Amino acid sequence: MCGIVGYIGKRKASEILINGLKRLEYRGYDSSGVALYENDKINILKQQGKVNQLDRMIPHDMVKSNIGIAHTRWATHGFPNYENAHPHTDNSKEIAIVHNGIIENYSAIKKKLLQDGYTFESDTDTEVLAVFIGALYKKTKNLEQAVRLALNEVDGTYGIAVVSSYEPDKIIAARLGSPMILGIGEDEYILASDAAAIIAHTKQVIYLEDKEMVVVRGDGYSTKTIDNLATTGDIKEIDFDIEQIEKSGYEHFMLKEIFEQPDSIRNSLRGRLIIDKGNVRLGGLNSVRDKLLRAKRIILTACGTSWHAALTAEYLIEQLAHIPVEVEYASEFRYRNPIIGPDDIVFALSQSGETLDTLAAIKEAQLKGATTLGIVNVVGSTIARETEAGIYLHAGPEIGVASTKAYTSQLTVMALIALYLGRQRYLSQLDGKRIGSEMMALPDKITSILAQTDKIKEIADQYYQVTNCLYLGRGVNFPLALEGALKLKEISYIHAEGYPAAEMKHGPIALIDENMPIIFIATQDEIYDKVLSNIEEVRTRRGKVIAIANEGDTRIASLANHVIYIPNTLPMLNPILAVVPLQLLSYYIAIKLGRDVDQPRNLAKSVTVE
Ligand code: AGP
Ligand code: GLU
Repeated sequence: MCGIVGYIGKRKASEILINGLKRLEYRGYDSSGVALYENDKINILKQQGKVNQLDRMIPHDMVKSNIGIAHTRWATHGFPNYENAHPHTDNSKEIAIVHNGIIENYSAIKKKLLQDGYTFESDTDTEVLAVFIGALYKKTKNLEQAVRLALNEVDGTYGIAVVSSYEPDKIIAARLGSPMILGIGEDEYILASDAAAIIAHTKQVIYLEDKEMVVVRGDGYSTKTIDNLATTGDIKEIDFDIEQIEKSGYEHFMLKEIFEQPDSIRNSLRGRLIIDKGNVRLGGLNSVRDKLLRAKRIILTACGTSWHAALTAEYLIEQLAHIPVEVEYASEFRYRNPIIGPDDIVFALSQSGETLDTLAAIKEAQLKGATTLGIVNVVGSTIARETEAGIYLHAGPEIGVASTKAYTSQLTVMALIALYLGRQRYLSQLDGKRIGSEMMALPDKITSILAQTDKIKEIADQYYQVTNCLYLGRGVNFPLALEGALKLKEISYIHAEGYPAAEMKHGPIALIDENMPIIFIATQDEIYDKVLSNIEEVRTRRGKVIAIANEGDTRIASLANHVIYIPNTLPMLNPILAVVPLQLLSYYIAIKLGRDVDQPRNLAKSVTVE
């Protein structure tokens, strides 16, 4: 949720920590802070606000420290204010920790510590862990042991990094449910909750496992479990380059990522379509090929935008492979004791691969004997590791909080899977070829939609002051309506709803008046005429219609106030194209309103808490 960075080496820690935090700020950004060891003590600077402000508070010229930890917070326990900002310390102020996640049994531990005379300055669960480690240090006089003992007592999730003036030669870090990565540089180590903070220094990393910890010194490190058993700590290579996490001249990451979609889709497709055979090659699914062949039912589980991609995939898989599909919010699935069996295949879709609810849904499915597969963007992420097999999106790092290119890559990969499953069953080679070639044409078609950005911006300029917006579509365009509405509300804070177009008359039609824009996804398919009737119904009530329609559509212009034309494709692939104008519309409305599109209020890029 939040971002953690730690540094130990020969260089100035403050600058490396701040630059690292800036790379992670998309993960959480309501407060930030740093703890540096210098002059025999732990010095803490923290504040409510973004990393730039923290940067300005630090007298980098004067600070010489080369060991420290830093944090950018997404509050779960306690308001985003100075007291609750991390790092938190123990009562002696000699031990400082930063933490990502939730300590679920913090109240019980706090109660016990209060009885023992310990005091607290914040409302956070994190401070309880800091004070607890301090209390255990008093008994053990060994930082590593104190951290280990404390972690053995806590329930919940954590990624933590700890420094102390008692043992100032080290940083201790650990994880359970929240990522923690050790970057191995030359004579230096960078700890971080996300590889984006490490890549500027080294590509060699160790992804800690759950309940694994690392003790890092300037001249080496050792990994072990929190039960003190040595672990191997396999070194891996970060799979992206620094340019991919920079804005490269774009004003925002979101805009850059929207414009990257021709390439990100190409990368998702690369090497996977065998056009002349109408087949799909998905190496990641080889090990479960037979299970997929026998599958009686497929369950897709995810959250947010990834859930919208899953809803679309339901249409594609049922259409091409004739396998019944169910789509569930991961947060519901994990708690409702779902009926799942060994012949079920559960796909988890997640950009970050760290979403806690999605991870928990997988664990629930595994417990019940189902095969679990991950459709994930971030390589080496928890969901990718916890599932039996899976496929990476290869969309490249997505930094903007609003998911754009990961969504189109999810749709692309799910279309590949539908084709793969279809070809295992009833789909002919001819149909396979036709779908495959249409997929290959998608990137260029997106480029042509991006060329209409100015026109979309003009529409945004006319409607940015509205307070409500409705998105309507039918069939495969219905989940797209949900996604369009989510994109608008999360970055512009305008209230928006997505509905199946025909459902409009069962309630939302009451909202329609001359101030209400209704965005129709009205592309050519077998229910196109029905959608036109829905548009008529809106027009009769003076609603303003913005339609996304296919090039060559001669009927729509007379019905809609604005039409954005997109190239023709197979109806099943249409959402991959039609989402692009919706992303741009939301982006430009949010910009016109002066919103922080890359870091919208209250949100975080990866939600590693419940
Ligand atoms: C997307 O724009 C959202 N910010 C959010 O709904 C996101 O899709 C959701 O939190 C799931 O994340 P994941 O794909 O990383 O699991
Ligand atoms: N639970 C901690 C807090 O509220 C950590 C939150 C985070 O992951 O940023 O401070």
